[in-house]
Amino acid sequence: MPSSVSPPSSPPLDPVAVSEDLTPLPVAKVKGDTDITFDGQLRSPLKLHEDVRTGCGGQTWPAGMVLGKHLLRYHRQDLEGARILELGAGGGLVGLGVAAECGVHDKLLISDQIPMLGLIKHNIQLNGLKSRAASLELNWGDPLPQVVLDKKPNVIIAAECVYFEPAFPLLLQTLKDLLELNSDAVVYFCFKKRRRADMQFVKVAKKAFAVDELFDEDRPVFSRQSLFLFSFRNKIHRANPKAASKKA
Ligand SMILES: C[S@@+](CC[C@H](N)C(=O)[O-])C[C@H]1O[C@@H](n2cnc3c(N)ncnc32)[C@H](O)[C@@H]1O
Repeated sequence: MPSSVSPPSSPPLDPVAVSEDLTPLPVAKVKGDTDITFDGQLRSPLKLHEDVRTGCGGQTWPAGMVLGKHLLRYHRQDLEGARILELGAGGGLVGLGVAAECGVHDKLLISDQIPMLGLIKHNIQLNGLKSRAASLELNWGDPLPQVVLDKKPNVIIAAECVYFEPAFPLLLQTLKDLLELNSDAVVYFCFKKRRRADMQFVKVAKKAFAVDELFDEDRPVFSRQSLFLFSFRNKIHRANPKAASKKA
């Protein structure tokens, strides 16, 4: 999409705006600080300032809680040496949890659209994570920012980014760009199915990527809440991981 065209912005937290809801969007909180441990996965709680005045990502969403806990429980060691990019980060819940706990060697990039960047910066500062994490403007569907091209992230985190149908092709394009940029990369992807169309996103993703449902001992609990947890990889990597490594 040309950068002169504005990307679709987040929808309002207005149940009336979503006629096909299977499960409602979370009730909007006004603002305040919350302590988060991802069910004890964090040694000291992450402080998250929530404020929905700049967009729906200003509050924590269920998939962010599931993905944060999953990453800290099952992928802690891989994340330490990883080059990590978070997409549609909102206030930065998942990325900041990883940055706080995993002693990442490389600064984690926490991205969203411009209106959310102030909140991300605030939360980085609130947790003293300036040396481990940085905010970044990244609009899905736009060419990847130079810092991303240079870094070639090998771990991409996306929580609750399937919630606004007009943005699906844009998000898919960004995921394709990232998995082409680094064919060894893995995308950890979690979302809550709210509308029938949400599963369409997965159908299209399965055509483009190697998609796997991830093991998690909490799956029986979160799948009852219509939460899905996947990894996406480049199909070349799946077919021939050694060849993919040489290309990356
Ligand atoms: C539902 S929130 C999820 C926030 C956070 N990941 C979490 O799980 O709590 C979705 C986020 O995607 C961002 N977003 C929506 N459309 C976008 C686009 N076209 N480009 C980049 N980010 C976008 C929104 O600004 C919002 O912060």
